[in-house]
Amino acid sequence: MSIFKNKKSFEELPTHIAIIMDGNGRWAKKRSLPRTAGHAAGSKNFKEIARYANKIGLKYLTVYAFSTENWKRPKDEVDNIMNILRDYLKDAKNFKDENIRVKFIGDIDALDEDIRLLIDDAEKESENATGLKLNIALNYGGRDEIVHAVKKIVESGIPADMINEDTIGNNLYTAGMPDPDFIIRPSGEYRLSNYLIWQSAYAEYWFSDILWPDFRPKHLDMAIEDYLKRNRRYGGI
Ligand code: IPE
Ligand code: IPE
Ligand code: MG
Repeated sequence: MSIFKNKKSFEELPTHIAIIMDGNGRWAKKRSLPRTAGHAAGSKNFKEIARYANKIGLKYLTVYAFSTENWKRPKDEVDNIMNILRDYLKDAKNFKDENIRVKFIGDIDALDEDIRLLIDDAEKESENATGLKLNIALNYGGRDEIVHAVKKIVESGIPADMINEDTIGNNLYTAGMPDPDFIIRPSGEYRLSNYLIWQSAYAEYWFSDILWPDFRPKHLDMAIEDYLKRNRRYGGI
């Protein structure tokens, strides 16, 4: 509760913030803990940041939870991440009671059946929520998403000369959502790692050395304050 006492009120907010929740492993290593402890801390922090984003009135938050490339990790680590996800999904407090609408983006069909069912439930249980729209990118890859979109477009039989940027956008997992205005990557890496590569064409970026489990609401405030000083020109003057 206490973290919300000094809740910031922003005159303006980006409509859509996307976060790459990176640095869990290094956070654990610094403390001589197993990587699993880092993922547990990262997950706890994710819930706190999502709640905070909802409190300040953010409309869309998209977080990167697991990429199509993360399957390269040892099976134990992948299993651990999926178990953390199961726990999150089983606890409706995380979204329903918070009036947060949750949606998963990524190749969900490739996941274990029990997770798919939990995802279905979470999406249905929260579909009437009017607060934050929280997208969780899971088994998500930007290139994979574009390949899926192209397949859908080809299957629908649209003639080539009818295809435009909207056709692509409307066939991505994020169809119907505004593009992210602002992408935050903690952990000291300066790359997108295949995140929202179509949607981020004109996003603003904020990089920081903070490791994800240490990323507090005050850091989100700092990032937003920085965003609000930027001049987005979209190629104009
Ligand atoms: C992000 O933290 C979590 C996932 C990619 C699932 P990492 O596990 O990548 O943490 P680092 O980058 O090794 O510190
Ligand atoms: C990006 O982090 C994916 C998530 C945070 C889920 P990674 O740790 O997988 O990214 P790389 O491998 O450093 O580019
Ligand atoms: Mg990483």
